[in-house]
Amino acid sequence: MIYNSLSENDTTEIGYEFGKNAKPGDIFCLCGNLGSGKTVFAKGFAKGLGVKSLVTSPTFTLINQYEGTLPFYHFDVYRIESAREMDELGFEEFFYGDGVCLIEWADVIKDIIPKGSTWINISYGGEKLTGGCVNPVQNGINSIPVESYSAKRQIEVVAC
Ligand SMILES: Nc1ncnc2c1ncn2[C@@H]1O[C@H](COP(=O)(O)OP(=O)(O)OP(=O)(O)O)[C@@H](O)[C@H]1O
Ligand SMILES: [Mg+2]
Repeated sequence: MIYNSLSENDTTEIGYEFGKNAKPGDIFCLCGNLGSGKTVFAKGFAKGLGVKSLVTSPTFTLINQYEGTLPFYHFDVYRIESAREMDELGFEEFFYGDGVCLIEWADVIKDIIPKGSTWINISYGGEKLTGGCVNPVQNGINSIPVESYSAKRQIEVVAC
């Protein structure tokens, strides 16, 4: 399944829907370059899961925990140095528990991601805008404002 996002708000709403439908034990693995929108997605997701407190990126803490309609575990493993750090964190309790996990940069720890997790890959769709003059009509995107096109993201969801 592929979702097209044209704005931060779109990505928030897509995340919200996933959060609203999450079930105990679900794991969502987010991949995508720096600034692609993983945390934006996570914030929408948390809202959908009923988390009322402010969700911030756990880049330096590896995990932030919240209470929504289910416990919500938000990981960001970008800065992890070895899988041992995940052991020290007691990751199995989170991955195999009754809460919901969302892991930014999950590809970094793909060896320990349980089967049956949902992978969500966010990529840029606006590369054509960089480094040149933009002619929306020529690019066949005349129905989309240029500002939106630069914020375009493709959100690909794969369950495996
Ligand atoms: N369609 C879009 N979806 C999400 N974010 C967008 C979109 N268009 C522009 N943005 C902007 O891109 C940035 C995404 O930042 P965010 O922190 O979510 O990225 P990230 O993937 O979590 O990065 P990092 O790898 O550093 O954790 C925000 O500044 C947001 O406003
Ligand atoms: Mg992030």
